[in-house]
This record gives sequence, C-alpha cells and structure tokens, in this order.
Amino acid sequence: MNFLRFSDLCASGQATGKRVFIRADLNVPLNEALQITEDTRIRASLPAMRMALDAGAAVMVTSHLGRPTEGLWRAEDSLAPVAARLSELLGRPVPLIADWVDGGFEVQPGQLVLLENCRLNKGEKKNSPELAAKLGRLCDIFVHDAFGTAHRAEGSTYGIAETAPLACAGPLLAAEMDAIGNALGLPFAGPPQEGQHPLGGPGEARVGGTLPKRPLLAIVAGSKVSTKLTILQSLADKVDGLIVGGGIANTFMLAAGLPIGNSLAEPDLVEQARAVMAAMKARSAEVPIPTDVVVAKRFAADAEATVKAVADVAPDDLILDIGPETAARLATQIENAGTIVWNGPVGVFEFDAFSHGTETLARAIAASPAFSIAGGGDTLAAIAKYGIEPQVGYISTGGGAFLEVLEGRTLPAFEVLARRAN
Ligand code: 3PG
Repeated sequence: MNFLRFSDLCASGQATGKRVFIRADLNVPLNEALQITEDTRIRASLPAMRMALDAGAAVMVTSHLGRPTEGLWRAEDSLAPVAARLSELLGRPVPLIADWVDGGFEVQPGQLVLLENCRLNKGEKKNSPELAAKLGRLCDIFVHDAFGTAHRAEGSTYGIAETAPLACAGPLLAAEMDAIGNALGLPFAGPPQEGQHPLGGPGEARVGGTLPKRPLLAIVAGSKVSTKLTILQSLADKVDGLIVGGGIANTFMLAAGLPIGNSLAEPDLVEQARAVMAAMKARSAEVPIPTDVVVAKRFAADAEATVKAVADVAPDDLILDIGPETAARLATQIENAGTIVWNGPVGVFEFDAFSHGTETLARAIAASPAFSIAGGGDTLAAIAKYGIEPQVGYISTGGGAFLEVLEGRTLPAFEVLARRAN
C-alpha cells in the first residue's frame, strides 16, 4: 500500500513555510487532579512535530482526549495538561488554541500551536462534510500521525485527509504500519527503516530480508475468545505457533476436552476454537495447550495458588495462570522464534501469585533474538511491570488500532492516505 510520507515531503523541502496540520494521538491517562500519569503517546508523537518545525513549517497539532460531548467544553476534556507536557518536552511555548475550526488564530513558520480537543468540534465523530471542508482549509499539508486512532474515520482523522491539499502519514503512523506489517508479512508495509522506533528503541533494521522471519509466533491472550476471534482466525492463516492465554486458553482447553472447573470460558465458542486449531494443524502449525495450570478457589490477590496438571483441575477451581511446566515449554518456543507478536498477558498478572506465567513469557521475549512486537493496554502494563521495554523490538502505541491490524483489516487511515497518494 502506497502512501505519502511526511519525512519525504520535509526532505524535499515541500513543507517549508507551509501550514502543516498534524493529527496526533495524545490521548493519555489523567488522574483526578488532571495530571498526566503516563506520557508514552506524547513522547511517541514528538518526531513528527520536530520534523515539521525543523522543516520551517507553521505547525498545528491536534488530538482527541477521551470521548467528550461535541460542543460541550469541560475542564477535564481539555488538552491543557498535554500542552504543558509538550512544552516541556519540546523546550518551547506551546499555546493551546480553543474554538479553532474557523481559523482566526496566528501560527507563523517555525511556531507550533496545539489545537484544543478535536472531539469537541461538532461533526467530528460522524465526519461531517462541513467540518471536513473547514479542517481542510486550515492547512497545506495534513499529517496523519495518530496510529492509536487510525481505526476511526472521524473528521480530524479521515475527513481532513480527503479535503486537505496534501495528505500524508507522519513518522509514527508509518513506523507502526511498517513494524506490524513486516512482522506479519502484510502487504501494506513499506521497507523497514533504520532507527524507525518512535520511542528510541532498537528499531530493528532488517532491510532486504524475507519478512517475517520464521518461525512466526503469536501470543494472543485475554479474557474472551469472542473479543479476539477474528484475530485468532486471521493469525491461524499466517503464524507457525499461536499461544493462547487467559480465558481464551480456557475455551481452547474445553475444545481439547480438558476440565477447566469454574474458570472463565465461552463454551458456545468451542467449535470456533476447534476450527482455529484445525486450521493451524492443516498447515503443520500448532496451538500449544497448557499441560499444567495455577488454580485458586476464588478470584483474589490473596487466594491460595495451587499448581495442578490440567487433568486434575477440580470442578470448583478457577484457572488464573499457566503452570511452570507450560511456561517453560512456551519460553523455549519463544527463544526459538524468528518473529513474535504479543497481545495479552497469559494470567492474572496483577496478582503476584498468578503472575509467573506472564513474567516467564515476558522475560523469554526479552531474551529471545526474535524480532518482537507488542501492543494493547494490558500487554504494555506487563512490559512496564517487568521492565523489558528496551528488549522488545517494537511497542505499539495503538490499542484498538493494533488489534484491528492483527485482524487483517485495512485501517481507514491507510485507505484514505493510499487513495490520496494516487
Ligand atoms: C485509544 O486510547 O485506544 C485511542 O486513543 C483511541 O481512542 P478511542 O477508542 O476513544 O477512539
């Protein structure tokens, strides 16, 4: 899939002196005092802003924050804390502009302003043509750099991409698609670029190789098969190993005829789980089923944890983690993988007694020479808990967007940018 890249426009001087509108995803968590508790997305968005400033553009940046009501300003929906953090990180003033849709604010080449929460604009969610036309008039170049929102077709992510004179992908959006696309061998990815990791990680330059490097191993875990069924089905066609965890693994254990006691599972999806296993088997690939598990009689941090062989799971047991034998076997598989895609912890890792499976896998991913890519809120929390950020090849800033790419969908951001590039 071909799309214009902002880096190319800057390198060829096409952004110099131009009005550049960057749609970033600065949707960061805030506490009750409206302080930012985690700023990864802000830091990941800096390269596009610096690129635009270095090119001598007049830079407008906007983002959504939460899901406010259009037309109703409330302090908790304001990007004010984001403006302050951006100002610290960029080392320059970042004025926050309210009511910006009709223009009327000043931004000179070499300056950067933050435009207030774009979801306050009427027509944003439904991508109204009136709003899209106004947004397009604000700029010469639209830069989509909001991977976390790339699965939404809203005014500031899609409408403006249709109406702006030029529409391109920012460095974060492009890096995300290149990294995920190359890991999975999807057709839309461009060649991996040296140092493309937006958070300054290893970046994993693998130019010229056959991608993805095999064996390709996916770890998909979470509470429900139903929320990730399309991902499992899509991956079953591509990967050499599909490790399932959490409630998803329980449903697969049921499908394999194993007892799961009182554990969270979806018995009505057993047939679909069997179909995924059969699809994998037909390709000589496998879905490894746990051989031992950690169970408790209740779902609590202080519940007694007991390791059991899967055949011994009692009717009143809750499976809350994979057992040490299973974790060691999966760790070996991870060590021998060529590429790893990770979404979801395999146990209730928030409770220490049930965290060992996730920790073992996380440490195996960190130690593995494989290129690893991870995404999704819980996964990032596990990565942070075990401090393995530097050893993960690529950490996606996307939640829902990351999952939709794993499902094999073309995100609206890429559909529109590709159309505009032609
Ligand atoms: C996210 O937090 O996953 C993105 O910022 C998208 O937010 P949304 O689900 O509210 O569109």
